[in-house]
Amino acid sequence: MSIAMPPVDPQTFVARRFSGQVMLVTGGASGMGLACATRAAREDASVVICDVDAAAAAEAAAELAAVGGRAVGIAADITRRDDCARMVAAAVEAFGGLDVAINAAGVMDGGDDARPAPLHLASDRYLERTIGINVMGTMFACAAELRQMVDQRRGGAIVNVGSTTGLTGSAGTPAYVASKHAVNGLTRSIAIDYAPHGIRCNSANMGATETPMLARAMDMLSERGDRPKPAAGPMVKPGPLIARPSTIWEQAAVILFLASREASDMTGALVASDGGWTAY
Ligand SMILES: NC(=O)c1ccc[n+]([C@@H]2O[C@H](COP(=O)([O-])OP(=O)(O)OC[C@H]3O[C@@H](n4cnc5c(N)ncnc54)[C@H](O)[C@@H]3O)[C@@H](O)[C@H]2O)c1
Repeated sequence: MSIAMPPVDPQTFVARRFSGQVMLVTGGASGMGLACATRAAREDASVVICDVDAAAAAEAAAELAAVGGRAVGIAADITRRDDCARMVAAAVEAFGGLDVAINAAGVMDGGDDARPAPLHLASDRYLERTIGINVMGTMFACAAELRQMVDQRRGGAIVNVGSTTGLTGSAGTPAYVASKHAVNGLTRSIAIDYAPHGIRCNSANMGATETPMLARAMDMLSERGDRPKPAAGPMVKPGPLIARPSTIWEQAAVILFLASREASDMTGALVASDGGWTAY
């Protein structure tokens, strides 16, 4: 009989861990970004929720403010440099600076008419949108965040949200795999260039985590369900060692640890928070 490993209690937090710090979260209106923003607000951060979904960003910030948090919601598409500059300017205007950035905005496909597919079948829209948001968008966001942190001369921390697909290959999703490997390369590059500025940069690399993105992936898989699946082979792993999907609160715990001063000796680390998926 195996002993279950339940996820962390969603109410867990570290009191005042981010007191006096301003945190910007891209993709902060949903899924893991929203969990990070929610927990960080409980931990006394001033939070800037940035998302391409303007209404959801405003709503998320209002909900945090309603329970006593300090939060603003900003509409920003990270593929636009001017939006990235504007979201950082909003952090400065609302809260006086920027100490922590969590870059969670990302997509795994190109939209309903541009699903993931092996490369010779993949549409340009799937390739371009996935690379455009996950790679160019994350670079533009990091560039704007770094500009502010360098100018402030008080250091900072960036956490990029990668994926197990940033550490290993995965079947049928080539642009996503390439994009998350790029996010991890970018993370290491930033760690090197900005250590002299007191800025740490790490990535969290999760497997299947219960968010709207995972629900969408599951829908796509069930639509493909009538196709024959290989019984075994390089594309088929039985699953993570912790045999259940991860929760957003488990991911927020890892991401916020990396963002916090408790991780003072960590930079350039690609942390697997994947239930052991990449351990074998
Ligand atoms: N859910 C998983 O199983 C899983 C696994 C590994 C990695 N990830 C990564 O985690 C991150 C968060 O994903 P999630 O699962 O919470 O998904 P989600 O879809 O719930 O949240 C992603 C958020 O990013 C926003 N966004 C998308 N494009 C944007 C853009 N151009 N500019 C600004 N915001 C944009 C969306 O509006 C959404 O609010 C992503 O980078 C994703 O690739 C997810």
